[in-house]
Amino acid sequence: MGGAGGRGPGEGTRAGSGRMNGSMARRRSPAPRRIPPGHPVTLTIALSKGRILDETLPLLATAGIVPSEDPETSRKLILATSRPGVSLMIVRASDVPTYVQWGAADLGVAGKDVLLEHGGHGLYQPVDLGIARCRMSVATKRGYDWAGTVQRGARIRVATKYVEIAREHFAAKGMHVDLIKLYGSMELAPLSGLADAIVDLVSTGNTLKANDLVEVETIMPITARLVVNPAALKLEAVKPLVDALAAAAAQGAAA
Ligand code: ATP
Ligand code: PRP
Repeated sequence: MGGAGGRGPGEGTRAGSGRMNGSMARRRSPAPRRIPPGHPVTLTIALSKGRILDETLPLLATAGIVPSEDPETSRKLILATSRPGVSLMIVRASDVPTYVQWGAADLGVAGKDVLLEHGGHGLYQPVDLGIARCRMSVATKRGYDWAGTVQRGARIRVATKYVEIAREHFAAKGMHVDLIKLYGSMELAPLSGLADAIVDLVSTGNTLKANDLVEVETIMPITARLVVNPAALKLEAVKPLVDALAAAAAQGAAA
């Protein structure tokens, strides 16, 4: 199995927000894996089922990597691929950064939302893959006086799965909010009276519309990024893989 030694979180990043870069420069990087000459290296890419997998598979195919069986239907969590020495690991979306940070997977694909909530420690983020494109937004019930609430500086309740992003957003606006952590179906919070507003991902806007909610602020655009364990980055086989995925993403963006 892959994993750049699985020794622990590494340091450094190439991209991402200042917050993601934050504490990494002060940490020691794990030593690169010692690979005896001639010993085959297996690189593992951590992916989540659903839209990340759906949108990453075409990029992997362009890079010549096709899973040995359909990851959506297989019960296997580690899958071989058509590219010798590359396997896929199926994990929950929010667990991708953790597997890569600790070297249990060498690379991974995760949304910017997940990376910001995780903190991005011990992860290089060399490529914005431009997939799973959506935005992080604030939404309220239709008819809620959001502008007036902001203007009055009233204290409000905000329900979200993305507490770190929400905390930073409202702090930057100088707004006092009580954050309520939820794990899904955020749209229910304003409808049930749990919260005045939600912070959630919006793509088509259909989910908000279906629940009579409106987007009142856009916090940031979101796409999925390739993340790499810093120790794995030192392995010879990793750079060509990162370059191939970057090229596939650029090709996808141009299409
Ligand atoms: P978990 O299972 O860990 O709770 P999840 O249910 O959020 O994760 P997905 O719904 O598959 O997992 O979303 C994976 C990623 O896809 C998100 O982190 C986000 O970056 C992106 N995403 C989420 N919703 C949308 C959407 N409606 N349109 C496009 N991209 C989205
Ligand atoms: C995400 C998000 C919204 C929806 C927005 O949920 O949490 O509910 O997509 O997309 P739209 O603007 O195109 O309607 P998802 O479908 O991933 O379900 P989840 O709550 O299980 O994560």
